[in-house]
Amino acid sequence: MKALVTVGDGTVKLQDVDMPVPGSGQILVKVVAVAQNPTDCKFCTLLLHTRPGNILGCDFAGIIEEIGPDVPAGLRSIGDRIAGVVHGGVGPNGAYAEYLVTDAALVIAIPDAMSFEHAAQLGVACLTTCQSLYQCLGLPSPLEPTSTPQDILIWSGTSATGQYAVQFAKLAGLRVISTASAKNIEFVKSLGADEVLDYADSFTPKRIVSITGGNLRYAMDCISEGMTPNQVSMSLGGDGGTIATLLPYESKRRSAPVQTVFILAYSIFGQPVEFPFPFPADKTHYDNAKIYCEMISKIIATMPLKPVPVRLYPDGLASVEAGFEDMKAGKVHAEKITYRISDTPGLQSPL
Ligand SMILES: NC(=O)c1ccc[n+]([C@@H]2O[C@H](COP(=O)([O-])OP(=O)(O)OC[C@H]3O[C@@H](n4cnc5c(N)ncnc54)[C@H](OP(=O)(O)O)[C@@H]3O)[C@@H](O)[C@H]2O)c1
Repeated sequence: MKALVTVGDGTVKLQDVDMPVPGSGQILVKVVAVAQNPTDCKFCTLLLHTRPGNILGCDFAGIIEEIGPDVPAGLRSIGDRIAGVVHGGVGPNGAYAEYLVTDAALVIAIPDAMSFEHAAQLGVACLTTCQSLYQCLGLPSPLEPTSTPQDILIWSGTSATGQYAVQFAKLAGLRVISTASAKNIEFVKSLGADEVLDYADSFTPKRIVSITGGNLRYAMDCISEGMTPNQVSMSLGGDGGTIATLLPYESKRRSAPVQTVFILAYSIFGQPVEFPFPFPADKTHYDNAKIYCEMISKIIATMPLKPVPVRLYPDGLASVEAGFEDMKAGKVHAEKITYRISDTPGLQSPL
């Protein structure tokens, strides 16, 4: 099969590689569409870690081609349309390929009405949302909404993860406060956020304290770098609170106790993670992720959820380097870079 692999010098190349073989509990997936995450770019720029022959890509949507050994009967069927996440960039299994293998219990069922291009973005963004809102913050989910709304701050309602977090939190009955650039404030309100403030305005944390009556206890920082560790910390109320962070940091706020909890999507596999951040194996993360995959499948099948607007590049995997350049140049705004595998020139048997 063709796959986008690391060369070992910080660049990537479309190469012929061996097809992966599903192991115990795994399925073989024919990949139809893939989405791009900042992590995919970061793997390439961190030269030391781009060993040759690693297949890039995490987010995928595709069709089950083969069921491996030990998959419980009835869990999955050949031909099922599914989406999910693999830990691309660290070995010979990644999403930017014609085929991949993944855990049969860690996939999302794609409803008939949803395209593969939209489904490809669900894995990282929705699972990170669930880890943040439920595993870390213990908030209600859309499947068991609350009638006593609590406030949550989702910093960056325009980021791919933030767009899903805003919608999941709103569907769960929470009062959602979010941030965006001035030009995207109405867009984030259209996702259901109750209050959206300009992230570049230095008064935004103070305004959030005022909007929440100084009682905000829960936040998810979907940027977690630059000014946001301070901005999010200062938005919490006088009793402090908990921030789910997507990059690791400790709060410097001293006037109130602020706990930060680093969320890592790759921890869903329950295995130790070495890269991009060391993270110990935690079986509860795997057990939670199985529940979250079912939850996400139900939500997308039954509730009004808006996908992140898709920005489809023309040449499938041959366009990935251009997509990386655009992301590194800061040209991704409230949209999801997406590639269709069959658009890749030179495939033997495109779908
Ligand atoms: N730990 C994990 O498992 C995990 C999972 C997912 C993502 N992440 C990390 O989280 C970060 C976001 O990833 P993503 O894919 O969700 O984002 P993304 O879609 O690439 O984010 C782009 C958006 O970020 C917004 N933005 C930029 N600076 C901001 C700021 N200071 N405050 C608020 N919004 C700002 C921009 O909004 P405007 O267009 O309005 O300017 C832009 O639309 C990345 O660093 C990624 O590596 C980590």
